[in-house]
Amino acid sequence: MNAAVGAALDAAAARLAAAGVDSARLDARVLLGHVLGVDPGTLALRRGDVLAPDAAGRYEALVARRAAREPTAYIVGHREFWSLDFRVTPDVLIPRPDSETLVETALALFADREAALDVLDLGTGSGCLLLAVLHERPRSRGIGIDASAGAIAVATANAARLGLAGRANFVMRNWADYRGGPFDLILSNPPYIRVGELAGLAPEVRVHEPVAALAAGADGLDAYRSLAGILPVLLKPLGRAVVEIGAGQAAEAESCLSAGGLRPVARRRDLAGVERCLVLAQSGRQ
Ligand SMILES: C[S@@+](CC[C@H](N)C(=O)[O-])C[C@H]1O[C@@H](n2cnc3c(N)ncnc32)[C@H](O)[C@@H]1O
Repeated sequence: MNAAVGAALDAAAARLAAAGVDSARLDARVLLGHVLGVDPGTLALRRGDVLAPDAAGRYEALVARRAAREPTAYIVGHREFWSLDFRVTPDVLIPRPDSETLVETALALFADREAALDVLDLGTGSGCLLLAVLHERPRSRGIGIDASAGAIAVATANAARLGLAGRANFVMRNWADYRGGPFDLILSNPPYIRVGELAGLAPEVRVHEPVAALAAGADGLDAYRSLAGILPVLLKPLGRAVVEIGAGQAAEAESCLSAGGLRPVARRRDLAGVERCLVLAQSGRQ
């Protein structure tokens, strides 16, 4: 007998919850929406619909992957960030809502929508930070740097998908070797997790997300030390660097970054009230 949508959703949510998935009911809906090609929000109105056997089979396969703790965003292949739809693969970190704090901060610093800014994004991953800012500042251009060839391919595809390919370029390079600009705005969400903390992370992160996007040495600060050496060279005299930090890292990250010559000018909190990003300027400038 064919299952109804409602029964399939309930069974999937129970299976995911039993597997330790926090967002079991939501994920059950997102996966079924993906299989049926409909907005997951509309499924509540379709609980009595019959699920065709082929759709039921595909749904079962996706629920099994999620129950094995593969992230939903990798299964469906995309994730929303800044209300834009980004393609994601296991080559890139899944964009986090907390990182929208960097976009908000950058847009507040450069409030003129018509400004023609040169923007750099170090460790661009999916390209989410750079592309969100370029979307909001239509006369600005930008470059995204990542050491991962897979990430550069995903970011390039995202620029095309969002209609921003003409204003965004992506370059595969270790940021320590990049020389270009100078730039009005430098964005970076670098890796900042202590290597010793990796084993304690949820399987979605530990097993599936790229370790080069997560870990930054024994104290989690290696990327800030490395960025400290290049940010002053790449930033215009009146430019601003907006850098993401992990919870509780503000003072240490500021100290690493200012050792390279930049001056911390502000800290910004995310929606949970956690200090999430630093704003830095050239020393001796306004
Ligand atoms: C935390 S992820 C951030 C991705 C994306 N910007 C975001 O906010 O979702 C960090 C990214 O930095 C890249 N990365 C780490 N060290 C790098 C280096 N030395 N040079 C270039 N890219 C680097 C990683 O490959 C990864 O894509």
